[in-house]
Amino acid sequence: MTLDRRTLLAAGALAPFVTRSASAEEPLLLRKIPSSGEALPAIGIGTSRRYEVEPTPDKIAPLREAVERFVALGGRVIDTAPSYGTAEDVLGQILPEGGLREKIFLASKVSERGKDGLAQIERSFQRMKTDKIDLIAVHNLVDVDNNLATLRALKQQGRIRYVGVTVWADRQYPDLEAVMKRETLDFIQVNYAIDSRLAAERILPLAKDRGMAVMINVPFGRDRLFGAVKGKPIPDWAAAFGCANWAQFFLKYVIANEAVTCPIPGMAKVAYVEENVGAARGRLPDAAERKKMEALIDAV
Ligand SMILES: NC(=O)c1ccc[n+]([C@@H]2O[C@H](COP(=O)([O-])OP(=O)(O)OC[C@H]3O[C@@H](n4cnc5c(N)ncnc54)[C@H](OP(=O)(O)O)[C@@H]3O)[C@@H](O)[C@H]2O)c1
Repeated sequence: MTLDRRTLLAAGALAPFVTRSASAEEPLLLRKIPSSGEALPAIGIGTSRRYEVEPTPDKIAPLREAVERFVALGGRVIDTAPSYGTAEDVLGQILPEGGLREKIFLASKVSERGKDGLAQIERSFQRMKTDKIDLIAVHNLVDVDNNLATLRALKQQGRIRYVGVTVWADRQYPDLEAVMKRETLDFIQVNYAIDSRLAAERILPLAKDRGMAVMINVPFGRDRLFGAVKGKPIPDWAAAFGCANWAQFFLKYVIANEAVTCPIPGMAKVAYVEENVGAARGRLPDAAERKKMEALIDAV
């Protein structure tokens, strides 16, 4: 039997030999949420800072454009939090229009203590003008036992679908690890970037063992990584795994870790959305290529 190119491509057999940049027609890479089997595109939007604008039509218009482009390209995941200034109000202006809410996997957080946790969550529903939030995570493990109990009750009532916890700094890992070992969680969210790799040692393998989906925050280290490579061209060899720019280089490195469900880079501009969503298309770097990527970034 001879296999044609299409059959081989579908089977992934030619993947290591694809050398062109990932094109817009290629489907987005999907990753399954272990607790449900639901598949999510392997790239999402983070809304801290850049979505914290005055919720007026002129300030919201460019953000709406970025979200619409994201959805048009196949994106689904948006991460926010009640503590991100006006970001939830801004999403409440953007998502109800054009059927966007139904196309989005909406993730928020809880960061108040005691009974205030539930009150904060109720405000999130109102601010985002939705009766369903897909995921709520305990922000930075604040009052984690109490907030997880609240979130589990909401999940049982069908108002949220998934429960998780977040951290964003290496010093929080011992506490995160303890919570991951004792609790059943659908998601964790953790910092991980090509120049900040500690999560790959224990946290990401533990998430895989415990069947937890993983969102990756600050995958660019905010402006740290772009600052480090400023004025430097992306290496030619990165085209072998579909990188056309530094953003894709940084994001493909993160997505290539098989425990990762999706990085959630902050992206508030259409041009950034197009570049970043492109990281979830085409081949990912293999283990040897990831080592080469690390060495390059460690040297700059
Ligand atoms: N504890 C927690 O739960 C926690 C903590 C931190 C973050 N988070 C989440 O993680 C998300 C991501 O973190 P972050 O936004 O702070 O950091 P980040 O994703 O590492 O960096 C975002 C910045 O990178 C720049 N950028 C994005 N795409 C680009 C592109 N294609 N080319 C060049 N520059 C690009 C943008 O800069 P400019 O907009 O300035 O141009 C953007 O503000 C947050 O939005 C939030 O949802 C959660």
